[in-house]
Amino acid sequence: MMTPFQTGIIAEASSDALFITFNVNRSEINTLKNALAAAPALIEELQAQFPAAELHAAIGLSDLIWDKLDTTRPQLLATFPHITGKDIEFTPTDVDLVLHIRSSRHDSTYQLASVLFKAFGNSVTLVDEVSCFKYLDNRDLTGFVDGTENPAGEQRKAVALVGDEDPRFEHGSYFNLMRFIHDLEKWEKEDIKTQEDIFGRTKHTNQEYPSAEKSVHAHTKRTSLKDENGNSMEILRHSMPFASLTEKGLMFASYSKTPVIFNLMLESMVKGDENGNTDHLMKYTRATTGQAFFIPSNQWLMSLSN
Ligand code: HEM
Repeated sequence: MMTPFQTGIIAEASSDALFITFNVNRSEINTLKNALAAAPALIEELQAQFPAAELHAAIGLSDLIWDKLDTTRPQLLATFPHITGKDIEFTPTDVDLVLHIRSSRHDSTYQLASVLFKAFGNSVTLVDEVSCFKYLDNRDLTGFVDGTENPAGEQRKAVALVGDEDPRFEHGSYFNLMRFIHDLEKWEKEDIKTQEDIFGRTKHTNQEYPSAEKSVHAHTKRTSLKDENGNSMEILRHSMPFASLTEKGLMFASYSKTPVIFNLMLESMVKGDENGNTDHLMKYTRATTGQAFFIPSNQWLMSLSN
C-alpha cells in the first residue's frame, strides 16, 4: 500500500543517488500538475519492476513555484537563507523543482529519473543533475563516515515529517540541498589528528570525541544543537559523495519537519558560537548551491490532477 509520505524521505541510506533540479516553464503549469499527480503511481510501478533495488524518490517544490500549484502554502516554506560570516558565506541559488532518487542499483535510479523526466515533458528545464555513490562504508570523500548520528527507527519519521501542527501539509517534509566542492589536495596535506579534531570524531574507527575534547570549531560541535529544554535538535541527512577525476564533493541533503533547525545549524557553522568560533570543516570545502524545498505528501501530489 502507498505510504502517505514520499518514501525517499525516510528510507535507509542507499548506495546510489541522483539529485536533479529543474526550473518550471510557467506557461506549461497544467502539464506539470498532471505529471506530479501521476508521479506517485509511476514511482510505485518502477518499484515493482525492481523489487530488490530499494528504489525510493522524493519530489519537492520551492517557494518560487509553490503558489502556481496551490492557494495555500506549507507554513514554513521559505527561500534558502543568505548567511554571511567572517570567513564563510552561504547564498541561495534559485530553482523550482527537485527530484531526489536513490536505490541500490544505478540502472533503476536512472530508469525512474527518465520516466519522470518524460512525464514532466516541456513543463521543465533541467538545471543540474548530480549522480552520487556510496563511498566505502558510507564515507565522505574526506575519509570520514557520514550519517552516523542520524535518527534511527521510528525517530526518523518524528524528525523528518510534518505532523498535525500543519494539517494540510501533514506527512510532508522540508528539504535542503547544498552542493559542496572539496579541496581534497588541501585536506590531504593535514595529518590525521588535525582532520579528526575538525570533525570531532576519529577517522578509521568513527568514534565520537568526548565532549570535553571537542574543539569549538569541530563540525559536530557546531551542528549538535540543543533546544531551550536541553533536547537535541535533529535533522535526517541523506548526503552522498559525487566525483569525477577533476571535481570532488558532497551533495548535502537533509529532511526535517521544520526548516528552522537546519537554518540554526547553518548559523552555528557560519556565524559560530557566542565568541564567533566557526566550523573549520568549511576551510576545505565550498558550497556552490543552497536550496530549500517542500516535499509534499503523496496525497497532495495526486490531488493536483486536472
Ligand atoms: C555530522 C560531514 C555539512 C549537519 C557530520 C559527520 C560528518 C559530516 C562526517 C559526522 C558523522 C555523522 O554523520 O554523525 C559533512 C560534510 C559536509 C557537511 C563533509 C559538507 C561538506 C553539513 C551541513 C549541516 C550538517 C551543511 C547542516 C546545516 C550535521 C549534523 C551532524 C553532522 C547535524 C551530526 C552532529 C552530531 O550530532 O554529532 N557531518 N557535513 N553537516 N553534520 Fe555534517
